[in-house]
Amino acid sequence: MDATLPGLVLLAALVLSLDAASWSLVPRKTIPYSELKEVVKRFSKADVSHYVTLTLGEAEAILYVGAREAVFALATGPLELKAAISWEAPAEKKLECIQKGKNNQTDCFNYVRFLQSYNSSHLYVCGTFAFQPKCTYIEVPSFSLNRLAFEDGKGKCPYDPAKGHTGLLVDGELYSATLNNFLGTEPVILRNLGPHYSMKTEYLASWLNEPHFVGSAFVPESQDSSTGDDDKVYFFFSERALELDCEAERVVARVARVCKGDMGGARTLQKKWTTFLKARLACAVPEQQLHFGRLQAVFTLAGATWRDTAFFGLFQARWGDVDVSAVCQYQLEDVRQAFEGPYKEYREQAQKWGRYSDQVPSPRPGACITAWHRQNGVASSLELPDNTLNFAKKHPLMDQPVLPPRGRPLLLQRGANFTRLAVHRAWALDGAAYTVLFIGTGDGWLHKALVLPSRIHLVEELQVFASAQAVESLVLAPRKRLLFAGSRSQVAQLPLADCSKYHSCADCVLARDPYCAWSPNASRCLPAEGPDRSLLLQDVLNADTGRCSPPRAAPPAKAAPKNMTVAAGADLLLPCRLTSNLARARWAFNGRELAAEHAWVRYAPHLQALLLREAGPQHSGTYRCFSEEQGTRLAAEHYAVQVVPGPAGTLEARAPVESLGLGWLVAGALGALCLVLLLVTLSLRRRLREEMAKGAKAVESTLVYPIELPKEPASPKFGPGTACDSDEKLWDPASYYYSDGSLKIVPGHAACQPGPAPPSPPANGIPGQPLPSPPPHSPNRLHLGSARGSSSNGYIRLQLGAEERPGYADLAEELRRKLQQRQALPDSNPEESSV
Ligand SMILES: *[C@@H]1O[C@H](CO)[C@@H](O)[C@H](O)[C@H]1NC(C)=O
Ligand SMILES: *[C@@H]1O[C@H](CO)[C@@H](O)[C@H](O)[C@H]1NC(C)=O
Ligand SMILES: *[C@@H]1O[C@H](CO)[C@@H](O)[C@H](O)[C@H]1NC(C)=O
Repeated sequence: MDATLPGLVLLAALVLSLDAASWSLVPRKTIPYSELKEVVKRFSKADVSHYVTLTLGEAEAILYVGAREAVFALATGPLELKAAISWEAPAEKKLECIQKGKNNQTDCFNYVRFLQSYNSSHLYVCGTFAFQPKCTYIEVPSFSLNRLAFEDGKGKCPYDPAKGHTGLLVDGELYSATLNNFLGTEPVILRNLGPHYSMKTEYLASWLNEPHFVGSAFVPESQDSSTGDDDKVYFFFSERALELDCEAERVVARVARVCKGDMGGARTLQKKWTTFLKARLACAVPEQQLHFGRLQAVFTLAGATWRDTAFFGLFQARWGDVDVSAVCQYQLEDVRQAFEGPYKEYREQAQKWGRYSDQVPSPRPGACITAWHRQNGVASSLELPDNTLNFAKKHPLMDQPVLPPRGRPLLLQRGANFTRLAVHRAWALDGAAYTVLFIGTGDGWLHKALVLPSRIHLVEELQVFASAQAVESLVLAPRKRLLFAGSRSQVAQLPLADCSKYHSCADCVLARDPYCAWSPNASRCLPAEGPDRSLLLQDVLNADTGRCSPPRAAPPAKAAPKNMTVAAGADLLLPCRLTSNLARARWAFNGRELAAEHAWVRYAPHLQALLLREAGPQHSGTYRCFSEEQGTRLAAEHYAVQVVPGPAGTLEARAPVESLGLGWLVAGALGALCLVLLLVTLSLRRRLREEMAKGAKAVESTLVYPIELPKEPASPKFGPGTACDSDEKLWDPASYYYSDGSLKIVPGHAACQPGPAPPSPPANGIPGQPLPSPPPHSPNRLHLGSARGSSSNGYIRLQLGAEERPGYADLAEELRRKLQQRQALPDSNPEESSV
């Protein structure tokens, strides 16, 4: 106990410090899978999985997809299948693979891991081929695989589909970084194909130490070079650091580079890179002692010239109990400087690593062959002197790490599991270019982040893949304004922006989406392009809605109020569906603004809802909610509440049978409700049991909140016994009734059950069938509510017998989930989480 206490305190302190730093950026909009149906196009084929190797071809008109044992050519836009190749590992190879002890379910297939354009008529493709990697060519016009000339894929493609790999074709030469043997113990960075003999890294732990390769980039640095410099290929990976001897296990991120003209040495470093250098990529929050070592992905953003190239690294770390993800940006110039700076070396005597401070041989080890070399009689790396090469072999690591601008991550997110990213420079209507990050997560979401001068703004989060699958690849087609995401089960195509989701000028401008702007003429949010750009309203920098006219503060009674009748003594929760996660709810009661400190109301900020405890006659009246964001108000909700005297339990009996079509509605909604109710019920029942155990005298209390009912009648998808499951008892017909369209659910008879399917439409299927009258109340039972419908709105009454009123926090969490609202509220200090 005593020993763990300091640990707990420390952990609490860590968590608190994370809180303080506010690394929980809230995406302005949350778009669940169901709302993306019309926007996202999807492709998958039965029996094919792992759609992870994506390459664009023919000016973004074609998307080539390498999957498990198949390659596809899809037309972008409609995302239609144009051609397919089946490329299976033969049965005898699979058998060999299994005999060597590999898993027949996961390992012994041909996973396509490399697919790039080779020349104008061919693609080059590599697959793991049941742990015996093979490569070959695909002829593009006929989309056929050359099955006669399989090349050995060793070093070009991993054996193990689970291992990191990167590769790139430059002028017919394949640069690849992978594990070079069956056991996965020999890491290598290789150059293959093309006119030169193959080149590779020295097999030394100081060169590569258990690396996890994530990306590579070609930068044509010979263009306009005043020094006659060479083109370079950069590799990005994580590895176990040797130089940090006090923290022997530490994983660090690296950038390594080789020169395109490298031919290896004549005696020393024969057929090995003479220009291999690596440096640490630093991504850290120094004041929190938080260092990111695990590099997940890299995106290379080309600039106007190669000098403006930027690399964006995506990192993950675990900090206490929390996953933290970060994006760090690196400028090419800073990477170049690290490679031109001092080397690191191991000092035998001191047994530690430090900066090399003695004389460096000339020509400088690891440098590309430049004009200076040629003037000094060194025309290629083959002519480099041995002392230069020996030094290069022993000193692959640079002393200085590469730091991101301002030494900080561009984006930090707590509780996130970022897996892939793509970056685009978008020109906004203000004439400035903004960096937009598209970030995929481990559970199938896509975040869209805008880099503002002083901070990051998360425009939205989209649930691209329903079944919580990781986003395993992201490819941008900037000209077509499309983004492709690959996962285990499918490829998805999304537009860079769906402006039609913004229904008002304020919403459109507040989105700060550089791809969208409001058209006052069309009264719609449109893509920010085309000839009438000058007529469109957009303010990416300040999100000033001042030019939106008319400023629609509170349109009078636009929608009919939701009528609610509650019994005195009940607790009433009025949710406010806000236009954005960044908005706050503001309430007015009978036309007067409600201050948060009002004695009898309570804002429930996590729910963006208003809680009326122990409703009395004075609470009757109209309640309006406004969604307020950056000082702009939009009407969101309108309730007419009537409080009637009497115990809550008798409400149903008094309520008139007002809507005959309601039976259908309620029945249809029942399935959907039951899911939610099950959750609420379980927590309430647990509480109740505790109370009962205490033998407390039950005092009835009721919490009422309105819900949205689905519009269709009983859909089989949500019908009882299909979508829901529970280990509890069956639906008991006595546990529900709707004399007035109210539904009673008794928690002891948990929701979501097969059986007599009572909540489906009345037996003869006629809507408006008279409904059974309510059974008598059992006073000892806990009544979980009634769902009343009025058009598509209803409410649930949670009625519970308990000594105390329900734990507000418990309910809040469940309700928040039901209402699909985020734990919102930008913490006071967005600056902390920004640039
Ligand atoms: C994999 O092996 C198991 C047991 O050896 C066998 O039952 C199963 O059918 C095999 N699966 C495939 C896909 O070959
Ligand atoms: C492209 O490369 C393939 C494979 O080496 C070769 O057969 C083909 O002729 C090349 N095509 C062109 C247009 O060079
Ligand atoms: C609520 O009640 C008012 C007056 O009783 C009525 O005009 C209105 O249509 C009702 N609203 C709904 C949504 O039923």
